[in-house]
Amino acid sequence: MSLITYLTRIQFDCGALKLLDAELQLLGIRRPLIVTDKGCVAAGLWGKVKEQLPGNLPITLYDGTPENPTEAATRDALKLYKEEGCDGIIAIGGGSPMDLAKGVALMATHPGDSLQAYAMVEGGAAKITPKVAPIVAIPTTSGTGSEVSRGGVIIMDSGRKLAIGSPYLIPKLALIDPELTFGLPPHLTAGTGMDAFTHNIECFLANVYNPPADAIALDGLEKAWKYVERATKDGQDREARTNMAMAAMEGAMVFQKGLGAVHALSHPTGGLKGYRLHHGTLNAVYLPAVLRFNGPVVGDKFKKVAQVMGLPESEGTAEGVANAVSALNERLGIPKGLGAMGLKQEEVERIADGALGDHCHLSTPRQPTRAQYIELIEQSWG
Ligand SMILES: [Fe+2]
Repeated sequence: MSLITYLTRIQFDCGALKLLDAELQLLGIRRPLIVTDKGCVAAGLWGKVKEQLPGNLPITLYDGTPENPTEAATRDALKLYKEEGCDGIIAIGGGSPMDLAKGVALMATHPGDSLQAYAMVEGGAAKITPKVAPIVAIPTTSGTGSEVSRGGVIIMDSGRKLAIGSPYLIPKLALIDPELTFGLPPHLTAGTGMDAFTHNIECFLANVYNPPADAIALDGLEKAWKYVERATKDGQDREARTNMAMAAMEGAMVFQKGLGAVHALSHPTGGLKGYRLHHGTLNAVYLPAVLRFNGPVVGDKFKKVAQVMGLPESEGTAEGVANAVSALNERLGIPKGLGAMGLKQEEVERIADGALGDHCHLSTPRQPTRAQYIELIEQSWG
């Protein structure tokens, strides 16, 4: 059985930010809570958005989003939302502010005070209703695609990094202006770009029947492969930035098909206490080993992947594509492995346990056992 849904309203173009006021009026948002982080404020990105808002619009700013959003931060933003009588959210930034905004929009309109009770692995999706407060998502990175996705990943009070997910959590508008990504530094362009690349390739390989998602994923894969290096080398490259913004958006449009073992591993790794490990960079590091692991079960899909990546026909195998991804990682300056990222060996078993309990474990084409997850982690050590 396949559920195939494409409903998101998207404004996409360099300069699209100028449509913000008109779009807020269409949505009936009159008292927005701005959810962003200190980095976006310091980089002047919030300032650029503010310029597009009418001077008399009552605005409440929450800029405390942590690098990996937490349930506690969601509560802080929710408190502001309620105190100021907000009626919608403008999320500005990468995946963290957009995911946090989803948590706030959910808890502002649904009963209870435990966000974890709404997590996908707790059966939370069925409890999420159309009452979710409206979100306008303005991405400032090209990777997560959270602006068009139905999910958000949050570190819960329990310490687990879990996804909330529902079609009702999809932002009412994705306002994608690639110009907002021009100032993103090279290492973040590379890391977020590899997140977009991973979304497209994991979705394409996922063992679910969804041909429209496959077609979009292949287009996103082609764009990410072709442009991530250019965008990393020259942040002002308009063509590269625009294509990366599209690849990120496409990668998240196809999430609905399902992700795989790369994300099942990177979620618990990114949630480890005492580290600050970047999600997209972790995906880049895990990807080659997982591609090789999937090789025996995905038929001739790697032929198609190699084709869109412009690799020779002889490289149309798990090994060929994995080697090409490793070489790309090196050119992008991605760390050689988990060890180089500062991970300690003592975390390996905890990550394997987390991967087994992650929602992405369910859609991966070949489900690793606990021992196989440990092997995949060791192979990604560098
Ligand atoms: Fe991701």
